[in-house]
Amino acid sequence: MCGIVGYIGTKKAVPVLINGLLSLEYRGYDSAGIAVLENDLIKVVKDKGRVKNLQDNPEIDKILGNIGIAHTRWATHGEPSKVNSHPHLDNSGKFSVVHNGIIENYSILRQKLIDNGYKLLSETDTEVIPNLIHMNYNGNILEAVSKTVKELEGSFAIEVISPLHPDEIIIVKKDSPLVVGVGENENYIASDIPAILAYTSNFYFVGENEIGVIKDDSITFYDVNLNEIKKELKSIEWDAVSSEKNGYEDFMLKEIYEQPKAVRETIGQRMSSDKVKLGLDDVDFSKFNRMYIVACGTAMHAGLASKYAFEKFCKIPTEIDMASEFRYRDPLIDNQTLCIFISQSGETADTIAALKLAKEKGATTIAVVNVIDSSITRVADHTIYTHAGPEIAVASTKAYTCQVVLLNILAANIAELLGNTSDELNDFKQSILALPDKLKEVLDTDEIMKSYAEKNYMKKDLFFVGRGADYAVSLEGSLKLKEISYIHSDAYASGELKHGPIALIEKDTPIIGCATNPSIAAKTISNLEEAISRGGNALLVTNQEIHNDKISDIVTIPDIHPMLSPVLSVVPLQLFAYHIAKFKKLDVDKPRNLAKSVTVE
Ligand code: F6R
Repeated sequence: MCGIVGYIGTKKAVPVLINGLLSLEYRGYDSAGIAVLENDLIKVVKDKGRVKNLQDNPEIDKILGNIGIAHTRWATHGEPSKVNSHPHLDNSGKFSVVHNGIIENYSILRQKLIDNGYKLLSETDTEVIPNLIHMNYNGNILEAVSKTVKELEGSFAIEVISPLHPDEIIIVKKDSPLVVGVGENENYIASDIPAILAYTSNFYFVGENEIGVIKDDSITFYDVNLNEIKKELKSIEWDAVSSEKNGYEDFMLKEIYEQPKAVRETIGQRMSSDKVKLGLDDVDFSKFNRMYIVACGTAMHAGLASKYAFEKFCKIPTEIDMASEFRYRDPLIDNQTLCIFISQSGETADTIAALKLAKEKGATTIAVVNVIDSSITRVADHTIYTHAGPEIAVASTKAYTCQVVLLNILAANIAELLGNTSDELNDFKQSILALPDKLKEVLDTDEIMKSYAEKNYMKKDLFFVGRGADYAVSLEGSLKLKEISYIHSDAYASGELKHGPIALIEKDTPIIGCATNPSIAAKTISNLEEAISRGGNALLVTNQEIHNDKISDIVTIPDIHPMLSPVLSVVPLQLFAYHIAKFKKLDVDKPRNLAKSVTVE
């Protein structure tokens, strides 16, 4: 959580820093600040509130310097307030630091500083960093930073500036993302590519425990013991426009509408010929007798929605787990276990920890990730990328559909490598190729979902039900609604309603059913009728021909192989959540209390 930006060059730093922060607000938005070097001084402007407040602060326009660091915060230690905002200064005012991550041993370090006469002004973990740098400083800032980071436990992406070293920014990273964008006589630093994509498409991805010295005309990387290391410069194809709203009112709506394109790009050349190509031909899949799919939140729902294809076509028992649970439950893992980790950001702390655990126990690991070169990709044995493009809205939409598609492609690929040549598998692959066009059609449900949202946006409780893959989609629909509309909702396997939750149904309680599998659709509809008999008002998302005058709204979506229907049926639910939040006049892209990239446990 939190986003950081840095600039060094010939331009005025402030506009670059503010632009970068605005695009990083999805990582946190409770306070923001900048520090710029100017005339042997560090000028700091910071406060609680959004980046817009910082931008409107009259002090900000007076800052003319060309070297600066900036931060947008998602509070971990200490409430959102001016004093807790970043950047933080050491007691001498000579070192300024922004930090994304958590310093787990900060209490011990805090005490050590206090014992050495330092005064800590904020409640943050970060403030120990500039003071430790000061304590370790002996004329060489690089040595002071290296010594300091050896004392830190936890996760961090850090930028440091000092008027004692007025032509450089020192950066260091462990378990929190950091990229350096390369320009001509200027360089950029950010937590994520979109923040600086308008200025460059050439990036260094800072590795674990790497320290960088960023000057306007040079970039040098070191390991934590200050041995110089060579890194590869990478070109990124994403265009700056894809990180902008492009005429849409919100990023979330834009991203919902981008799904046909994102899925088409995720399928890419991987499915164009008879064989699926994912670059995994060297893996001996025949040795696996168990499989886990592990992720958090929406990514975990993508795993739940895709499990069926692995069991059906690969015949490998497959369990889905939340990363935060998996790592603490001593899962049965050995070298005959295949573990798949799903993550849009590639930076989720729980998922990284679960991945490390699986590797330690001897599993083969495959990561399904959207952000190129992110932390998870560097730990997993194999990575396959969704090509969703940058996802800016905090609530995930296009990343989810691309994850479900890629997981199903992976299941088809493993099945083929295991010798499955069945007609059913071939039909399944053809259905995957049909998804982008069907996704375009399903976007036509926008109007009906908007009118259902208008009828229900004042409701306090809402329920989603389905069976099998439709249950997985119900969980995702319910999460989307909670996240951005703040309406309480729950999702149930529809057969479970009668075992308790039906007690919650009263007059006009909205209940959304999803029924796309012809073999069990009728059962879900019966369960909906049970709720309707108790006063519930039902909407049904289905690809079946249904004649039922008790269900008040029926939303028809295109027909598809039942195992792929989550890619389509989720779209009306995304649109429903979106319109509810709009009717409630909420900030759709930046819901309260959330951040896009969850780098804390
Ligand atoms: C919900 C949402 C979150 C993420 C979860 C995992 O809309 O976006 O539930 O899915 O925090 O994030 P990643 O996929 O980045 O690991």
